[in-house]
Amino acid sequence: EKAGFDHFMLKEIHEQPKAYRDTMMSRVSEDGKSVDLKELGMSSDYIKSIRKVQIVACGTAFHAGLVGKTVIETLARIPVETDVASEYRYRSPIITPDTLVIVVSQSGETADTLAALREAQRNGAKVLAITNVVGSSVAREADFVLITWAGLEIAVASTKAYTSQLIAFYLFGLHLASTLGTQNASAVAEVIAAMHQLPDQVESILAKSDVLKKVAESISHHKHLFFIGRGIDYAVAQEGSLKLKEISYIHSEAYAAGELKHGTLALIEESIPVIALVTQEELYEKTLSNIKEVKARGAHVLGVANEGFEEEAGKSVDELFVIPKTLPLLSPALSVVPLQLISYYASLALEHDVDKPRNLAKSVTVE
Ligand code: F6R
Repeated sequence: EKAGFDHFMLKEIHEQPKAYRDTMMSRVSEDGKSVDLKELGMSSDYIKSIRKVQIVACGTAFHAGLVGKTVIETLARIPVETDVASEYRYRSPIITPDTLVIVVSQSGETADTLAALREAQRNGAKVLAITNVVGSSVAREADFVLITWAGLEIAVASTKAYTSQLIAFYLFGLHLASTLGTQNASAVAEVIAAMHQLPDQVESILAKSDVLKKVAESISHHKHLFFIGRGIDYAVAQEGSLKLKEISYIHSEAYAAGELKHGTLALIEESIPVIALVTQEELYEKTLSNIKEVKARGAHVLGVANEGFEEEAGKSVDELFVIPKTLPLLSPALSVVPLQLISYYASLALEHDVDKPRNLAKSVTVE
């Protein structure tokens, strides 16, 4: 059932192009120019009444929610907060009837996420569930459901469920934007056209796995490393760091690149690996100057940058992994893939149980 792959995780990483297509399918109009989410049963009047969005989730789903915040704020101009479910519940969040709460959960059974959903509804808010399991607790109790069609995910470390959650956020963000008129038809069509290219672009990254395997093998000799990025690159950095910790047990931290000099730089020493995401055009120069800061202290930097910027980025890093060019908002759906592969190969190099890391369960149904 691993279809020729050594582990479920690797199989699931390779299933991402299909998961993207399946999650988009039938939700994009025939002419490929608009998004159709009538399946949600969310009225235009309701959408126009939303004043605030709160995204609540745990772990990797929380990291998808960090990207979701930027997606919704950029496309629909509605303010968004993203919270870890176990924190949200106990911080007396301000939930009003004009708040849309979005819970994100692969399994749809995570106890803290389910409790957050109930808390939101108790306070009069409506809840949209983004989940991978039809008929799960979260899907049954939410007011609106957007299924991610990633298919069964078996490896404990989430990969295709995370990226399908990103696709769900893009679709929902476009749906809000079209309804609210915050983006015109050509802007919406441009995002959709770029989304259609993502599956093939992921394939082209997968085809370069050998390079990432080498990177992972050298990382596996280290005890600590850092991921840095700005904007949504920072959100992806957090997911890359969690993935690595989870299955390779190597300690890593993700930092907003501009925050390094406020403390973390003290930890940068000779030859420490730093993985820097540089995909946001507006922030290129800023991130490059942060890369110089760590390099000046001896760090070995792997840059993950997009096409068109390879020459400039290449001059500032020790190694460069180039991902295909896409819209800045969509880059997480590509840039996370090399990070997933690095974690996988690092775990493999250290001979850990890739699909069943120690101390972890696939679905956390206790608080
Ligand atoms: C990490 C991972 C976990 C889950 C988290 C939430 O790879 O899988 O962090 O993302 O436990 O699970 P769901 O999405 O099922 O609510």
